[in-house]
Amino acid sequence: MTTTHLDNLATAALQDVLIDVAELASQAKQAHWNVRGATFLSVHRWLDELAEALRGHADSLAERIAALGGWPDACSETLSERTTLESLPFGRLATGQALAAMDAGLERIAAVATSWLDNPAVGHDPVTADLLTGVCRDVQIQQWFARAQQ
Ligand SMILES: [Fe+2]
Repeated sequence: MTTTHLDNLATAALQDVLIDVAELASQAKQAHWNVRGATFLSVHRWLDELAEALRGHADSLAERIAALGGWPDACSETLSERTTLESLPFGRLATGQALAAMDAGLERIAAVATSWLDNPAVGHDPVTADLLTGVCRDVQIQQWFARAQQ
């Protein structure tokens, strides 16, 4: 398979989304461990499910980059340099604080993916567009879960 200019734009789009998805997966685990409050158990469990779902998306995004001839990068240095997400505070997180942080992170992922889908070069690559649309679809459901628990 030869790599074209359109493939390069698609891999740039996938890489941008991968960074925020991988960062939020890490933050969801961090919140899973540090959340406290009256609804601890349900929020603790949901945060684990969210981390797992985001890891699945990260894997799909990374493997599509590789299939297009690119080099997926979700190493910690890249995440800390390039994520558009706010970092989580150290230590105890109240349930509302953890849920609001996840809601904001999910919002960012949807915004980054949607802005790339608006780029005709990415929107017209049906497989990449389908993948990014799938990420948006799941992220918006997870946002509903985050908001419904507050
Ligand atoms: Fe756990």
